[in-house]
Amino acid sequence: MSVPGPIRVWLEPGYDGGQVGAWMLDLPGCFVAGRDTASALAHVPSAVGAFGAWLADHGEAIAVPETDQRRVVEQVGASIADGTELNATFGADRRPVAGHEVEAVVRRLVYARTDLLELLERVAAWEAAHGPLPGGRSVPELVRHVAAAEMWLAGRLDRGARFEGPLGAPAATILPIVEGWAVERLSAALADDTAREVVDDKGESWTLAKVLRRLVHHPLDHLGELDRRLARAEGAVDRLVIRKDVLVETGRLVELFRAVGWYRRVADPGRLARMLEGSTDMVSAWDGPQLVGFARAISDDAFNGYIGSVAVHPRWQGKGLGQRLIRALLENNDQVRFILTAVEGLQGFYAGLGFEPDPQAMVRRRLR
Ligand SMILES: CC(C)(COP(=O)(O)OP(=O)(O)OC[C@H]1O[C@@H](n2cnc3c(N)ncnc32)[C@H](O)[C@@H]1OP(=O)(O)O)[C@@H](O)C(=O)NCCC(=O)NCCS
Repeated sequence: MSVPGPIRVWLEPGYDGGQVGAWMLDLPGCFVAGRDTASALAHVPSAVGAFGAWLADHGEAIAVPETDQRRVVEQVGASIADGTELNATFGADRRPVAGHEVEAVVRRLVYARTDLLELLERVAAWEAAHGPLPGGRSVPELVRHVAAAEMWLAGRLDRGARFEGPLGAPAATILPIVEGWAVERLSAALADDTAREVVDDKGESWTLAKVLRRLVHHPLDHLGELDRRLARAEGAVDRLVIRKDVLVETGRLVELFRAVGWYRRVADPGRLARMLEGSTDMVSAWDGPQLVGFARAISDDAFNGYIGSVAVHPRWQGKGLGQRLIRALLENNDQVRFILTAVEGLQGFYAGLGFEPDPQAMVRRRLR
């Protein structure tokens, strides 16, 4: 299912201590952050792909823009007051909200909780064998934080609302309790003027639409972070099967390219097949039967080479797979000068792999 593109993006510079947040308000909860605007925007198509795939995994098919084109609709910075970050309220947050939108958010809170509980079981199994998971908050702290944030966000519109429960209970107990409380707050907000704007005691402005997008985004953000921590601890990328043979079957590649927003690349199957036939080197990463990463090169094996079509499935991004794919193409090729075109915002990723900007490069752009 598709909706017309481009992907509409609302930018929040200063998000989370100085990053740039990119909110896709047409898909409440879909979000990605980067160290600057370009790197946040570079990850937007994958963030949309990941959001659609997450809902599909839970049996909910939604329409997403089938494009990698992005349009920034509005930019509102986060600000700091008395050491507290006050986050953006966009013009589009000040709209009335329909009952079905709240129902969708309530469903998605359940998906996020289910996924978090499942992931926590995998973390517990890893910790039983290896000790505390490195790289961030302890599991009890994380659960308390996720529960506290859900309670805090759901209470923003009703300053009299107080959750009295013990936030320190185990995840399987506390998360459903807080969720039930949050759902009651949302139902109350729905019975009120749904475009009403409330300013909290720190000076941050809140509306129902803003509460909804942040309620979905927050657990997803921590799910992603915990998933990346566990993957690093497990060495998950090292356990993927990396193949360097030639891919001839385009079906899996089409799925991967769509997941990162490369719909134009897959629109013409003949052209895609020619792309593969014309490449001299390919590297692909496999999680069982699923193709989760791909990169290719055209090289004369003597002086010059070109690297292109570097794609990592959104579920595997941020775990070091991109690096592994490029290194696999570069290995045993010290004599070759490789060039590539980095998507704006990804120069840092390639710089970390030994690439540098070349002021002498000239490009004849594609005419179609
Ligand atoms: C670019 C890409 C191949 C990198 O692969 P990867 O496996 O995520 O690589 P890494 O784990 O080494 O992470 C690379 C960088 O992206 C950042 N990143 C990865 N996933 C991210 C996400 N979901 N949100 C924000 N940043 C993310 C990492 O923090 C890292 O940043 P840094 O190098 O500036 O520190 C992958 O993100 C991708 O497939 N993107 C979509 C397709 C694309 O744009 N390809 C590149 C064409 S030039």
